[in-house]
Amino acid sequence: MKKLLGILIASASLAVASIDAKAQAPSDIPEEMNTLMTKYTCIACHRPNQRLVGPAYADVAKKKYSNEEIVNLIYNPIPSHWPGYPPMAAMKQVPKADAMKLAVWINSLDESPAKKGGATKAKPKSKKA
Ligand code: HEC
Repeated sequence: MKKLLGILIASASLAVASIDAKAQAPSDIPEEMNTLMTKYTCIACHRPNQRLVGPAYADVAKKKYSNEEIVNLIYNPIPSHWPGYPPMAAMKQVPKADAMKLAVWINSLDESPAKKGGATKAKPKSKKA
């Protein structure tokens, strides 16, 4: 008795999970800043929007330092500004012009609109009379 078995080939559809590699890729770092951050090793500890060893630059920007103040903090870090973080080493090898470029860029990150996850639904309207 010959059994004819229909062979059903089920086409397996692969659900391709989209990989969110955004957190790792430094795509949010302009090329020139990436060059400087790599050269002076800032990149080992800092990202624009992500905490690593050091705080995210966007969080630094929120502190509203002047560009000059940031340059000074690169040369003379004040670890007490960032409780819960290890102290940053003084980066005195960074030429002033480059430190200033980094400072200007860091400060610019405060204005960049949050792309996602940063829903600002509750706008504080605390206006004390
Ligand atoms: C080995 C890790 C490391 C490296 C390299 C590093 N940082 Fe930091 N950075 C930190 C940590 C940790 C903090 C927070 C603690 C502190 O300020 O000492 C910090 C804080 C900062 C702050 C905030 C200062 C404040 O007082 O609010 C700025 C700005 C900054 N870093 C810029 C830079 C720049 C620019 C470079 C490269 C020239 C750099 N960092 C290299 C770890 C690092």
